[in-house]
Amino acid sequence: MSEQTRRTRVSAAGLYVPLLLGAVVTVTLGVYGSVHTPTGIAVNVAGFSGPQTVKVWLASGAALLALVQLVSAFAMWGKFGSRVPSWIGTLHRWSGRFAFLLTVPVAVHCLYALGFATYDTRTLVHSLLGCFFFGAFTVKMLSLPKRGLPGWTLPLLGGAVFTLLIGLWLTSSFWYFTTIGVRF
Ligand code: HEM
Repeated sequence: MSEQTRRTRVSAAGLYVPLLLGAVVTVTLGVYGSVHTPTGIAVNVAGFSGPQTVKVWLASGAALLALVQLVSAFAMWGKFGSRVPSWIGTLHRWSGRFAFLLTVPVAVHCLYALGFATYDTRTLVHSLLGCFFFGAFTVKMLSLPKRGLPGWTLPLLGGAVFTLLIGLWLTSSFWYFTTIGVRF
């Protein structure tokens, strides 16, 4: 085994614990969503026609902020030229934090009121993506402070979290906008 391969394997070992804890989060949400009896509880917010539209717009806000995070990540990696604005790192971090914060009340309602649904392909895929999203987010957050991880770690984890969130948006808000309509 080459010295380079050995070093990559050793540095990738630092991912084992984050990956394990991410898997625990994903499985725990899936099991809870499956065994818990959905309560159907719904909380409405003034200005919205119902709890479902509140979730649809919160999830759309999260997806939009995730796009800001993606573009700012490309800028940080110099994809838009070598001159990187000093504030781009702050924009990347805060857009990510607010995107995640917007998903939490939505997911709490999904899991507590609706549960892990399998009654059609869309809701099954959506439910799976929801559980993997929080697992992947856990792996990314636990890997961030680690030094010496392979260079591909953060782009891969960031890309996975972004793709899962956009998949969640497509299987919920986008479905709602194209099936029921764009409304508040
Ligand atoms: C954590 C695991 C999750 C599970 C098990 C789950 C499950 C569900 C289920 C069963 C529905 C109802 C689908 C329907 O009958 O139309 C739903 C709706 C919805 N979910 Fe989730 N979800 C999860 C996470 C998320 C997350 C993280 C987001 C946001 C980023 C999200 C956004 C939405 C939205 C906007 C709706 C309403 C639109 C719709 O009815 O499809 N969900 N979810």
